[in-house]
Amino acid sequence: MKDLFLKKPYVAIRKSSRHLLVLVCVLMLSVPALSGCTSQSAARPSDKIKVGVTIYDQYDTFLSQYMECFTKELEADEDVDVVVYNASQSQQTQNSQVKKMIEDGCDVICVNLVDRTDPSTVIDAAKKADVPIIFFNRELVEGDIGRWNRLFYVGADAAQSGILEGELAASTCLSDKSIDRNGDGKIQYIVLEGEAGHQDAIVRTEYSVDTLIKKGVEVDKLGYAIANWNRAQAQTKVTSFIENYGDGIELIMSNNDDMALGAIDAYEAAGILKSDWPAIFGIDGTSVGLEAVRDDKMTGTVYNDKEGQAQAMYRLAVTIARGGSIEELSDEFEITDGKYIRLSYEKITATNINKYLSR
Ligand code: GAL
Ligand code: CA
Repeated sequence: MKDLFLKKPYVAIRKSSRHLLVLVCVLMLSVPALSGCTSQSAARPSDKIKVGVTIYDQYDTFLSQYMECFTKELEADEDVDVVVYNASQSQQTQNSQVKKMIEDGCDVICVNLVDRTDPSTVIDAAKKADVPIIFFNRELVEGDIGRWNRLFYVGADAAQSGILEGELAASTCLSDKSIDRNGDGKIQYIVLEGEAGHQDAIVRTEYSVDTLIKKGVEVDKLGYAIANWNRAQAQTKVTSFIENYGDGIELIMSNNDDMALGAIDAYEAAGILKSDWPAIFGIDGTSVGLEAVRDDKMTGTVYNDKEGQAQAMYRLAVTIARGGSIEELSDEFEITDGKYIRLSYEKITATNINKYLSR
């Protein structure tokens, strides 16, 4: 029974016939497939394509909003069926899901790897069946993506997000002397890190701090905490930083918005006045993150272009499923090494927040 359950998609969408609201309801109710690879395989016309997707964790805020963008792309396309699986943070589960999608005749599979260092089973199965794979958001190492010419990656440049976050923090610290609350000429900071071993966590942490220093901010590191992209975990970690350092924390740089929001939750729960909070920065520009910038709780964030990435993944999936090549998309997207499409990040502060809130 357990095995059977793992093989069920958490949502399947038949294009244009389902509304986004249906997707949300299905997500909440965990109803099995409405349609999908299995149910469609016998009857589908030969030009109809089937796209399989598996994501590492359906409760990840950024990825669930990314998937909403992806399904919006598909709403306009009559000729595509999609099935989406949740791997629930298990690589083994994800491996079974990929095998199931291959058996069910998916023409292309989009994989948000659970363990970015362990894509072998997925690659071997896809190669054997000659089904192309688009990895997304959790980037595998170059040696692995080079193992076959029908492996691709859609994402963003992690270093750029760290640099932009560091620039945002630097310009705030340099222009607003009240950030240095104790007036010692240094900024006491903490970093909230995503998952250990995730490219975005490692690279964002390194580049955000390096950029801050390069821009001329004198810093004093109080500590860092790994909170796995997660709001509640970040709240717990920041609560203990507040217990240790009181109002001595002047800056919090978070690898994503959800953890920055967890820091905000910690300050609110501790009953600390907004005027005594540190400057807090995130990355993603999720809807909740944008609202926190609008409400002046988060000083700034960096836009992780989910619309652009979802559109690139959709366009690439449809193109290669129909036997085309990634190069056909070179007018629409920047393509690197015939394998990678990376979208740019953008800085968000109170001054340009409206542009993002209305997206
Ligand atoms: C990052 C994003 C995080 C989290 C992570 C999951 O790009 O900023 O919020 O979604 O991907 O892999
Ligand atoms: Ca200081």
